Amino acid sequence: MEIQRYKDKVAVAEAFSAYLAKAVANKDNFHVALSGGSTPKLIFDVLAAEYGDKIEWSNIHFYWGDERCVPPSDDQSNYKMTVDHLFSRIAVPKENIHRVLGENDPRAEAMRYANLLEINLDRVEGIPQFDLVILGMGDDGHTASIFPHEIDLWDAADHCVIATQPESGQKRVSINGTVINSAKEVIFLVTGSSKKEKVKTILGKEEGYKRFPAALVQPSQGKLTWFLDEDAAAGLE
Ligand code: 6PG
Repeated sequence: MEIQRYKDKVAVAEAFSAYLAKAVANKDNFHVALSGGSTPKLIFDVLAAEYGDKIEWSNIHFYWGDERCVPPSDDQSNYKMTVDHLFSRIAVPKENIHRVLGENDPRAEAMRYANLLEINLDRVEGIPQFDLVILGMGDDGHTASIFPHEIDLWDAADHCVIATQPESGQKRVSINGTVINSAKEVIFLVTGSSKKEKVKTILGKEEGYKRFPAALVQPSQGKLTWFLDEDAAAGLE
């Protein structure tokens, strides 16, 4: 595992954008699972502005590690956030965008998406393998939409699960931990002082750290890198 620390969120965005551009260079059919929430907004803004005309977007297939069970027009939608901050500014073929259909029945959609991953991605020991999974981390230590109160979903038999956001009760479709850990590479993008306690607990392997789903991200073969700004890394040595 590698930890990369940057002075602020813009520096994280710039470093990650350069890293992604290098990772996808001369690769066709690069399958990446995007994270949602608010952290990616600035990162996608920088990626679009500084690499919009430098990356061959038609070589990349976009998926989501998790999506809220809302229509694609809803401000809560990770797909809508990605359109607003990235897809509306780059030349990505629409057939390369594989959104979770948040407007569908969650159970049916979890099954459909799991099947889509099994068809579109290579499989390693039966588990769909992404080239890259991008993750955020909640203040509570969740990642994708696997929350501490439902940590048993991490090892669920289904590759895509239905999760429940603990405060709002909002339903979400999420890939499970088995799919995350089968990826060739996993990158955490974590910024802001609200994350520093959990970053310290998880990266410091403090007592009970494995009760947080973000701590269970340990790619079996793949590379794991944490991109942190100094606010999020403040609790580390
Ligand atoms: C989501 C995300 C989720 C997110 C964390 C961090 O759908 O919300 O996929 O896992 O990455 O909750 O969210 P922020 O970036 O908003 O802090």
